[in-house]
Amino acid sequence: MNPFPLSPLKYRHSILLIDDEAAILDIMTMMLADEGYDLHTAGSAAEGLKILKESPNFSLIISDHMMPGMTGVQFFAQAREICPNALRVLLTGYTDMDAMIDAINSGGIHLYLTKPWQRDELLYSINQMLSKAELIIENRRLDELVKKQNEELLELNKNLEEKVRIKTRHLDQRADELKTSYEKTRLILSGTVLAMSKIVESRDPYTAGHEQQVSAIAGLIAQKMSLSNDQVEAIRVAGSLHDIGKIGVPAEILTKPGRLSWLEMEMIKTHTQNAYDILKTIEFPYPIAQIILQHHERIDGSGYPQGLQGEDILLAARIIGVADVLEAMSAHRPYRPALGMEAAMDEIVKNRGVLYDPNVVDACLGMNPSPLSRQKIYKVKVCSISLHVV
Ligand SMILES: [Fe+2]
Repeated sequence: MNPFPLSPLKYRHSILLIDDEAAILDIMTMMLADEGYDLHTAGSAAEGLKILKESPNFSLIISDHMMPGMTGVQFFAQAREICPNALRVLLTGYTDMDAMIDAINSGGIHLYLTKPWQRDELLYSINQMLSKAELIIENRRLDELVKKQNEELLELNKNLEEKVRIKTRHLDQRADELKTSYEKTRLILSGTVLAMSKIVESRDPYTAGHEQQVSAIAGLIAQKMSLSNDQVEAIRVAGSLHDIGKIGVPAEILTKPGRLSWLEMEMIKTHTQNAYDILKTIEFPYPIAQIILQHHERIDGSGYPQGLQGEDILLAARIIGVADVLEAMSAHRPYRPALGMEAAMDEIVKNRGVLYDPNVVDACLGMNPSPLSRQKIYKVKVCSISLHVV
């Protein structure tokens, strides 16, 4: 087994050899010639310093100690200033250990070899030193790489935080603008709905307030049934517009005090389709036109205009249908006096599960006081509309 195995080196290293004896320089050059190094020689310390100043990128400097004019230790003291990263090897025949240690300290020498040297030992020592130097260089390179990447990450993070801050500020501003715009739209829609319901009421003074009352009662029932705020809003809006289609029915029929003929009844019935045709093109946030179209449908299919049954009728329409009956029966009409709150409640109880949704009827029964008296007490505001789609 080779006691001096050489490690493969990653780089081609430059080595400077200094000795005042040309024969020794020749021998060393011959020894190192086959090892792939970039070799340079100098016959004196002064020449060696000159070479270093011109090209300070040597990996290794090997110098004799006893040279005329300047010792190897003195040479290395200057050489380390010029080329601090180079490894320094002193060749000497000097045997005084204390003096040698002192010389090593003052010259910053990494290794000294005593003459005469063994070829294999010298090659091995040089190889090991350069191998360790490569490791140090590689570690330093990796350290610098990590440091650089950390700095880049920090910078990136800083930029990212700034971008997020700016984006958040913009989003906050946009949210404020949207909120303001939403409030304006809400007010406009509320005003429009109220104005539309007033137009219908103006044509039939006997039912003045009917739409607002139905809206309030339907809203209370929807709340009792634990529907979402958006659904309650939709039901209130639909309630306040549910008879808008009566605008297409002659006022004489609407206000006729006596019993209506079959034809007159049929004309009254057109108000659901009329309302749908008026409202279908308006972009409400909920299906208002559809709800109103169905508010006279009954769960047994006996209603109009389509004769829908059960859950084919929108829940909102089922609620408004009950609220409509409650309010209409309890109020005065040109063709009859008010039937009263009790009679109205009896009607929906009697037809619970037949004409009216049992859950809606149960919600009315579960309200104490009854929805009819509650809506009069609380004077529910019917036109507060949100823009969420139901
Ligand atoms: Fe109606």
